[in-house]
Order: sequence, then structure tokens, then C-alpha cells
Amino acid sequence: MVHQVSVDSYGKTAFITGGGSGIGRGLALRMAQRGAHVVVTDVDGEAAGRVASEIEQAGGTSVAKRLDVIDADATATAVAEAIQHFGGIDYVFANAGVLGPADLTETTPADWSLVLDVNVKGVINTCQAVTPHMMERKQGRILITASYNGVRAGTHVIPYRVSKAAILMYTRCLALFLAPYGVTVNAICPGVTLTPMQLDYAAATALAAGITTEDYLAERRSAIPMQQFTEIEDLTNLAAFLVADDARLITGQAIAPDGGMLASS
Ligand SMILES: NC(=O)c1ccc[n+]([C@@H]2O[C@H](COP(=O)([O-])OP(=O)(O)OC[C@H]3O[C@@H](n4cnc5c(N)ncnc54)[C@H](O)[C@@H]3O)[C@@H](O)[C@H]2O)c1
Repeated sequence: MVHQVSVDSYGKTAFITGGGSGIGRGLALRMAQRGAHVVVTDVDGEAAGRVASEIEQAGGTSVAKRLDVIDADATATAVAEAIQHFGGIDYVFANAGVLGPADLTETTPADWSLVLDVNVKGVINTCQAVTPHMMERKQGRILITASYNGVRAGTHVIPYRVSKAAILMYTRCLALFLAPYGVTVNAICPGVTLTPMQLDYAAATALAAGITTEDYLAERRSAIPMQQFTEIEDLTNLAAFLVADDARLITGQAIAPDGGMLASS
């Protein structure tokens, strides 16, 4: 990573959940490249620490914290500590998520609870913790990682689809709620992105189908109109735009008619 200072984000602070891996790691590195201080949180504290070290080694400023977003009190404390440490939070990336079981018949009540707790309540806990702070400052950017599965019905990963659909409605409502305070709330809906979450799923599905992971992925890729998976960089480009100062009017206009801009890669 090359550390580049952008005037837009220089000296601002980004708070990221699920920042230890995949898309969250990409968001953390991208915000550091833009000159922001980055608070990398993850339920896997060591992974968060590795990403924070990566940022520091490239010349950025970062702190790591183990955080399970299911725990509302711990999330509020982590946000308060970040505000204390850096003097405020400008960007929140509510990104942590879990996929849950693929097969509905094998999905237990505990599976439903975990997926809804992390993907819905975890996002709500994160946003709730920072909302009074952003309202008071009359500024802020919230970006929620939803999924294309939140807008598309299917027969697999049904709890996941339900959780992402729920969080898209939360995004729209929170966008309307915070608009008068100059705070924007958006969601990105990544397509298939080859992160550890997606690769684990691909390996398990391929195994069950008796094919190689490579063949399974080739099949999935061929179903995508552009025949390409989403790259983490595609998502961080979009995220960088949605949190930029320049995005204020564009998101503001989109909020007016239907309650939030829904960006999809
Ligand atoms: N990879 C894809 O194809 C894809 C597509 C659409 C949406 N998404 C979404 O992107 C987000 C990031 O996923 P990813 O693909 O980078 O997966 P990933 O597994 O690489 O990263 C997810 C991170 O979230 C962390 N996490 C899990 N439960 C947590 C909890 N309770 N509290 C805090 N952190 C927790 C994990 O430790 C991990 O570091 C998720 O919300 C996911 O649903 C991914």
C-alpha cells in the first residue's frame, strides 16, 4: 500500500467493523490511503491488529480493537473510545457480516439468530452508537455493507438474504432520519467478491456438489453478465466516492424521493 494523503479525508477518522478481513480490510486500507485515521475493529482481534499494523507500516495512523458488534454496550464503548482518542468520528463503515448456512432445511433457530444478530443488530448497534455524535456535529458519513442478496430472492443462504434486505430498509430510514443533520447514510451491495467468506462458501458448495472449487467458481462467473467477479477495489472506489465531501449533494438529492441512495456494484 502506498500512503497518499487526500485533502478530503486528511485528519478525519474512520471507524470500521469487520475490518480484519476481506472488504473491511480493503475499506480500512483505502481510508488510510486517503489520509484518515482508521479504527479497525473485528471480532477477530488479531486480524484487526494485523490490518492496523499494515496501515501504520505504510505511514498511516490506525488503532485496532477486538469488537463483537452483537454486543451493543461494547460497540458503544468502542465508538466512545475512538471519539476520545481521535477527537471525533467522521466515517463509519458498518461492514461486519456472516453468511450462515446455505441450506434452509439445515438452518437451525441458532443459525437464524446469529445471522440476524450480526448482520442486522450488529449494523444497528454500530450506527446507533455513532448517531448522537454525528447529529451533534452535523456531519458524518455512514456506509453499510449490504449485499446483492438483499435485493434478489433465491433458494440458498435465505437467512443471509433476509438480513441484508432488512438492513437496506434500515439504511433508507436512517438516511431520512439523519438527512436534516447533514449526515449521509448509504449502503453498497457487493456482488460476488472473492474474500475468505466467499471462498469458504465456494469450497463447501463445490465439495457437496462433487466438483472442484475452481469449476464451481467458473460456473458462477459465467452467470455474471460481465463474466467478472467484483473486485475489492471496485467496492473501495465506490465507498471512497460515497464518503467524499463531494458526494454530499448527490446523496442528498437521492435521499429526497425515496429515502437513500442504493448503490450496487
Ligand atoms: N464477499 C462477498 O461476495 C460479499 C458479497 C456481498 C456482501 N458481502 C458483505 O461484505 C461484508 C464483509 O464480508 P467479506 O466478504 O469481506 O467477508 P470476510 O469473512 O472476509 O470478512 C468479514 C469480517 O467480519 C468479521 N466478523 C464476523 N462476525 C463479526 C462480529 N460479530 N463482530 C465483528 N466482526 C465480525 C469477521 O471476523 C471478518 O473479519 C459482509 O457484511 C458481507 O455480508 C460480501
